[in-house]
Amino acid sequence: MKIFNTKQALQQYLLQCRQNGKTIGLVPTMGALHNGHLSLIKQAQQKCDVTVCSIFVNPTQFTNADDLKNYPRPIEADITKLESVNCDILFNPEVTEMYAANEQWHIDLGQLEHLLEGKFRPGHYQGVTQVVYKLFDIVKPDYAFFGQKDYQQYLVIDKMVQLLNLPVKLVMCPIEREADGLAMSSRNIHLTADDHAHALVLSKALAYIKDNFNGSNLSEVTHSAGEMVRNQQGVTLEYLEIADGETLQPATDESAHLVALTAAQVGKTRLIDNMIIR
Ligand code: PAF
Repeated sequence: MKIFNTKQALQQYLLQCRQNGKTIGLVPTMGALHNGHLSLIKQAQQKCDVTVCSIFVNPTQFTNADDLKNYPRPIEADITKLESVNCDILFNPEVTEMYAANEQWHIDLGQLEHLLEGKFRPGHYQGVTQVVYKLFDIVKPDYAFFGQKDYQQYLVIDKMVQLLNLPVKLVMCPIEREADGLAMSSRNIHLTADDHAHALVLSKALAYIKDNFNGSNLSEVTHSAGEMVRNQQGVTLEYLEIADGETLQPATDESAHLVALTAAQVGKTRLIDNMIIR
């Protein structure tokens, strides 16, 4: 695997690839890689000739200084994992390589920015779009791969691609789960054994909605699933909502695309999860 820390060296190499007629797939990550990330790499490899994984803990998307400081950064283990799946390229820049001092960014993402995650992490999606725009500009990928686990993030990036008419196709890849149902996440590293057991209520509540929604009982199943989470010791629910899968506005029984999304504090760790209902 080739490792690049500078934009210039990466761009020079990718220019040659493009001149040789190769298509490029980008998997943007913040590292602490798990099987969910590796499944994105595998999808990229199936669709593209050259796969670039970026590892960059992006400061502008953190709304809490301690969260940024404590975000796991096991770079040597990440390199080993990327090599084990034959990833072609790792782009692992320093903050100063990605940002000039006092850079400004704003994109009008409409309501999508302020719903669900946006309510709890104001400014988060401005930071996400800022860094993803930069990564697209540097790598110029034909395809970019994102996990369904960050469902709202995918919609936000899709909106940016449409607004700015960016020449990249986005691919949403399914959530990878542990055998017990817990959605894989870099943050799971922080869960104690008790937290892990408590966190299972999130995927159980989502599965409850999927299994029990009969086309006309949206508010009842949402209420019961919310109660399941609220009654779980060690878990503080932030939201559990069924939303329209395209706009994330609150859904009705009639909405064509339904997704259930949740976020909760489990011990000291904030987790999110979602499930497509229809
Ligand atoms: O999903 C993530 O890991 C990050 O939000 C992303 C897309 C790599 C941007 O920093």
